[in-house]
Amino acid sequence: MNYSTEELKEKIEELKAKLSVTVVAHFYQRDEVFEMADIVGDSLELAKKTQDDDAEFVLFCGVGFMGQSVKVLSPNKRVVMPKVACCAMARMIDTIYFDESVAFLEKNGIKKENILPITYINSNAEVKAKVGEMGGMVCTSANAKIIITKALQEGKKILFVPDRCLGQNIANQMGLKSMIIGLGGDPKECDIICFDGFCSVHQLFSVDDIEFYRKKYPGILIAVHPECDPSICDRADFVGSTSQLIKYITELPEDQKVAVGTEFNMVNRLRPKNTYILSSTKPECPTMNETTLEDVYLTLKAIDDGAPINEIFIDEKTQYWAKIALERMMAL
Ligand code: 13P
Ligand code: SF4
Repeated sequence: MNYSTEELKEKIEELKAKLSVTVVAHFYQRDEVFEMADIVGDSLELAKKTQDDDAEFVLFCGVGFMGQSVKVLSPNKRVVMPKVACCAMARMIDTIYFDESVAFLEKNGIKKENILPITYINSNAEVKAKVGEMGGMVCTSANAKIIITKALQEGKKILFVPDRCLGQNIANQMGLKSMIIGLGGDPKECDIICFDGFCSVHQLFSVDDIEFYRKKYPGILIAVHPECDPSICDRADFVGSTSQLIKYITELPEDQKVAVGTEFNMVNRLRPKNTYILSSTKPECPTMNETTLEDVYLTLKAIDDGAPINEIFIDEKTQYWAKIALERMMAL
């Protein structure tokens, strides 16, 4: 297919006007894909906003677990994804690793009924279902602190999967004791026991990067996502989820310099001046970037041809428990 970007945009708009479809995009999507969306947001906002939408199809531009979350929360919608790209962190945990993590705690003297699992939304529906079945819930980076505060009221040990950084960062913020499975420590002495998963994009930011910017531009602020290593978050002026970072950065005075530690596409379109990327390596999420304008067009065309592609289906049991885990989060 040899359409130019402008031709593809026109074709996409024509199909959107014709079909009962809402195009949804995460902030990390490529600019040209992001521009085509009817709804944009971070993972929590997208899960909420699509629930209220009444088009037959949701065309979700993001990574697989996000499309799955929309389907779990709104099972009557038909969710299609131009690319069912898998978040590298979500891929680090599956139901087998989850069960092994529970078994590790049991082996260390913690009864199953005293474990409360929390999964970051960056996990597949099967893991969310396991968590739901054990009485646990989902969190996002925007609400992790609220969810953990609530969970601690039950007096149980928290098993936090899959992001070790988010788990440790929240524990540090709240003055709680945490450990990472496989890296030593006694779970009986910890409040939060984290699985050893991480986001490779957010691992790119280093203490040297912070020192470099602080030296080069005295007075610069450092704002980072909590998927960054605790050594980074501890030194930052602001730590927040995607939507919290957007609010913080766009509300800064125009002449305030800020270096941001999160995904490139989002930072790049935030604020025209005085905003820097906190890394000499471009922090692009490879899986978020898989979706192209051509993919969006072909996915819409398939709907128009009556043969939708890349549709998300979830089995009944997974759907049931994953929904409970997500709804426990929504209720808070
Ligand atoms: P948000 O929940 O902030 O949208 O983040 C999702 C994500 O994958 C960040 O890397
Ligand atoms: Fe997953 Fe990291 Fe990409 Fe977010 S930035 S979607 S956590 S790989």
